[in-house]
Amino acid sequence: MSMTDPRELFLHELGDMLFAEQTLVKALPKLAEEAGDEELRMGFEEHLEETKQHVANLEQAFEVIGEPAKAEKCPGIEGIKKEHDEFMKDESPSPEICDMFLTGAGARAEHYEIAAYTGLVTLAKGLGEQDVVELLQENLEQEKRALQKLETVSKRLAQTAKAGSAA
Ligand SMILES: [Fe+2]
Ligand SMILES: [Fe+2]
Repeated sequence: MSMTDPRELFLHELGDMLFAEQTLVKALPKLAEEAGDEELRMGFEEHLEETKQHVANLEQAFEVIGEPAKAEKCPGIEGIKKEHDEFMKDESPSPEICDMFLTGAGARAEHYEIAAYTGLVTLAKGLGEQDVVELLQENLEQEKRALQKLETVSKRLAQTAKAGSAA
């Protein structure tokens, strides 16, 4: 059976993000625990709360369009998670390296989410689902802010790295 209806694609992508957000709700407490840097740890903890809200917004988006909320397995986010898990296991990074690594791992997840929500917002607009657009836009804006925070920490840590290696 081939998919021919854009609405079906939209539902698929919505389910994909539901899976991704559910995965992140489970992963973020681990990232917070691994982070030694205070700002980084707090950032992960705050984003965990936002991520729970992202799940709720997606569930509500399904409700608005009158479909059951169904998560679709998302290999993309699983890959990002796996990359983190394998690095931590294989490299046993020092606390400094771990924090630097975590900013990159977090940023990868945010970029993935930003790409997905940007596409979903475009599709929802095309389908004329204005209420859904607003819910998705809310998530998208929080992902962008989370990415900015990670980039700020990443730059600060990189400065420290420079000072450290010069000493
Ligand atoms: Fe999210
Ligand atoms: Fe996020």
